[in-house]
Amino acid sequence: MLERQKYNKEMDEVRERQVIEIADYLKEFFKINADIRDMPIMDAVDSQTVERVMSWEIPRAGRDPKVVGDELVKDVLSKCLSLQHPRSLAFVTSAVSPYSIAGAVLTDIYNPNIAGYGLAPTASLIEEKLIKWMGSRAGWDENCGGIFTSGGSMSNLTCMIAAREDKLPGRYDLADGVAFYSDQAHSSIIKGMRMMGLRNDQCVKIESDDNYRIRLDLLEAEIVKSKNEGKKPFLLIASIGTTNTGSIDPLPELADIAAKYGMWLHVDGAFGGSILFSDIYKNLAKGIERADSLSWDTHKWAMQTYSCSTALVRDKQKFITAFNEHPEYLEDVRSASHNDGWDLGIEMSRPARCLKLWFTLQAMGTDLLADVIDYSFYNAKQAETAIKAMPDWQVVVKPCCGAINFRYEPKEIDESKYDALNDAIAKELTASGYAFIVTTVLKGKRVIRMCVIGANTETEDVLNTVEKLGQIALEVKKKF
Ligand SMILES: Cc1ncc(COP(=O)(O)O)c(C=O)c1O
Repeated sequence: MLERQKYNKEMDEVRERQVIEIADYLKEFFKINADIRDMPIMDAVDSQTVERVMSWEIPRAGRDPKVVGDELVKDVLSKCLSLQHPRSLAFVTSAVSPYSIAGAVLTDIYNPNIAGYGLAPTASLIEEKLIKWMGSRAGWDENCGGIFTSGGSMSNLTCMIAAREDKLPGRYDLADGVAFYSDQAHSSIIKGMRMMGLRNDQCVKIESDDNYRIRLDLLEAEIVKSKNEGKKPFLLIASIGTTNTGSIDPLPELADIAAKYGMWLHVDGAFGGSILFSDIYKNLAKGIERADSLSWDTHKWAMQTYSCSTALVRDKQKFITAFNEHPEYLEDVRSASHNDGWDLGIEMSRPARCLKLWFTLQAMGTDLLADVIDYSFYNAKQAETAIKAMPDWQVVVKPCCGAINFRYEPKEIDESKYDALNDAIAKELTASGYAFIVTTVLKGKRVIRMCVIGANTETEDVLNTVEKLGQIALEVKKKF
């Protein structure tokens, strides 16, 4: 008789002893979360921790998994910026729902590959159902489709490639194609254009207006100019929820322009797509129903663990045309009745990212999710009122989608020092461990930016953070 593989023998023992107690880690995580408001947002990594982590070897013989897990929790996972923290206000990211964690853990345990329908039939049906439901929130009909991806960057790339294949079929005209985007578009847009093979002169950046929305007059002038030069304007990028200011581009007018010049309108809603969950705020995205494609991350504002994004398209056939391939080794498992994921996007093997969103929506209901979105708008408004009430503070642009930008401009200090002053204030607050915020640059000025979209973030967290910034500013100012 053949010897059994050593690995299998060992795993029998693992199962027998149940040494990997995932449930214990989950319990501990939720216990920590209950007290999170009183904890520092990021536990500083001291030199002993760095030394310990660097001293870990990759062993020839395995070690006790309990010890390995404890090491990871103590020295690695708990040392990362806590996105669960209610005052994690720097990035476009929310605390995740315990339902998403449950869905993610469950999915990882079974580890389905949702590459094709035949490998994960009911998971694929759930993916399709969610995609169509999200498409319907955008006002699209049954013909819409799409796919879950790893993130907004991947969703943007997926949609832009579909645009290229649709508007420059066969890529014969690729050298003449021109794409247009605003100076507020996310960096993944320009990266995506580069990856699509566009030269710099084929990517035209349009200045935004005082509300950080793309300027339509400049846009149309540039489109006409490139047409007059014999080029082919083919792609127009809009945003709902720009990273800096949460601004929403004028979608109805952009849809008119796209239609007039035969261009593909892609909307980057990686951040702001989630306003479509809200019956109150979805009107801000009016015009989205005329877009060709939409990126929408649920790992940003809809409480999902990384990664969970969607690339959505008004006409599913456009993704199929762009991505379908028929390799011989997949013929046996190709579905005759349903679309296979590998025909709808870039990735082949894929985790079933849709299942954690499904778990969340089923367990939580859509009303509560809408409430989280509405509350972010409310919190941004509260922050705006509080900032305006503080002497020498300016709100730089009306907040949108829970993003608020502001600046300290005390008269007694020379204007040329405002950038450094605001930078120092933000750094001081973050160094205190109370909250995590960053600065950005708007129209050449460094401003403080907060994104109050965390599901754990209460109004009290936002107002206390604003108050603390006010106090810190008075101290920091003395050094200028
Ligand atoms: C507007 C926008 N688009 C795209 C992205 C990229 O998303 P991801 O980080 O999931 O790739 C971001 C990230 O913050 C974003 O804010």
